[in-house]
Amino acid sequence: MDEPAELINAVSAEPAGASDLRRLTVRQGVVGSILIAGDGNVVTQTVTIIHQYSRAEPEPEQPARSATAFPPSPYKGLEAFYEEDADRFFGRSAVVDTLWRRLRDLQTLPLPGQAARARLLAIIGPSGSGKSSVARAGLIPELARRPISGLANPRVAVVIPHTEPIEALATVLARLATNDPAPAAKTREFADEITRVNDAGVPNGLRRIANVLPGADRHPLIVLVDQFEEVFTSASESGCTLFIETLLDAASEAGGRITIVLTLRSDFLSATARYPALDAVIAAGSELVPAMTETELKEAISLPAAHAAKDSGMPNPLDQGTVELLAQETIGREGALPLLQFALNRIWEGLAAGTSPAETLRELGGVGGALAAEADRLLSDLRGVGKEDLVRRRCRRHAPPRPAFRDRGDRRNPGGCNRPAAPVCPSRRAAGYLRSRLR
Ligand SMILES: Nc1ncnc2c1ncn2[C@@H]1O[C@H](COP(=O)(O)OP(=O)(O)O)[C@@H](O)[C@H]1O
Ligand SMILES: [Mg+2]
Repeated sequence: MDEPAELINAVSAEPAGASDLRRLTVRQGVVGSILIAGDGNVVTQTVTIIHQYSRAEPEPEQPARSATAFPPSPYKGLEAFYEEDADRFFGRSAVVDTLWRRLRDLQTLPLPGQAARARLLAIIGPSGSGKSSVARAGLIPELARRPISGLANPRVAVVIPHTEPIEALATVLARLATNDPAPAAKTREFADEITRVNDAGVPNGLRRIANVLPGADRHPLIVLVDQFEEVFTSASESGCTLFIETLLDAASEAGGRITIVLTLRSDFLSATARYPALDAVIAAGSELVPAMTETELKEAISLPAAHAAKDSGMPNPLDQGTVELLAQETIGREGALPLLQFALNRIWEGLAAGTSPAETLRELGGVGGALAAEADRLLSDLRGVGKEDLVRRRCRRHAPPRPAFRDRGDRRNPGGCNRPAAPVCPSRRAAGYLRSRLR
């Protein structure tokens, strides 16, 4: 695919991540793609990212802010950091560097007599540990800053399996092939192609499609499967098997140009045991996302504010004492990162309204209390209008996935819908929290 014809929303980003020396430019293009260009070592590296769905339209151009206006929050709240957030993603240099090295090592050809390794890297960690963020806002932009031999100017197809992993994969490939945001016919054609097997009975559709994509010789393909665990929980067993075999075939092609990166919740590691070939590849090529250290947490808390303030020409509104306090309240607490982000967003809103961080934190009940207070507020609003039951039912849709298949029957979404229903709840995590409060 050529670069999307029309580029919009050019954003110059200060560098972040493992190598802080090189500049990144993030541009959003047509077909829901993002282009990340970094000045690399010598020549500009462009990483083209193709998404499964069109991303939200960029905000219309805002009228020039007055010198005193407070900048928008640089934090993400309960959302993960995505590719376009690379400039405000901090505190993960060490793991990004490790992942970058793992990816680089996967590109080296085996020595004569050595068995080829599958080019697959699994990023593993508990829910909320920052896997998606580290992959999407850390590792992928890093490829523009520090090119990897064999992975120069890559195209990254971001696939989120949901209930139909094959369709998800076919959609991204079709978007890549056609530059059309809704390539229905091409998606069907590719989905059929992926279901076909070669003479040895191996589904090799992904490698066949990828190898004939326009520009395939110039742009290696990275298939980034985020939330891989969904194949175990939401897809039919046949879809799950086909998807896994397809990825493994593409990753194993000798001298091939396809690399698979996936994020997987660590509580699903036992589910991979049902697929021994996948299990073996994950065992050989996985990296755990560790909990953030105190120093990393402080960076993640303080640097987004410092950069946002600098860009707006105002002093950093987040004092060192607040940074220390927030880091102390987060460190060593499992699943606290989303709460920290939620609290930071609230603190930022408070600062914009002239409320001190200490006062906001007191109102929230600290980092741990942050989401609890929000859930209580939402619940009491809903109780007020008699909708508590509705929330309870809707939130069940976001229930934690089952650990593995229990039967071999077709477990497709009974509603036949291949996308998650629009949540009533503010997010899956808030939904999870609300559910626990409704028990
Ligand atoms: N480096 C980071 N600094 C600050 N917050 C982070 C960082 N990485 C992730 N988060 C926050 O942690 C939460 C979980 O991140 P996410 O990437 O969705 O985790 P996972 O994919 O493991 O569930 C989100 O609220 C996100 O904004
Ligand atoms: Mg995730």
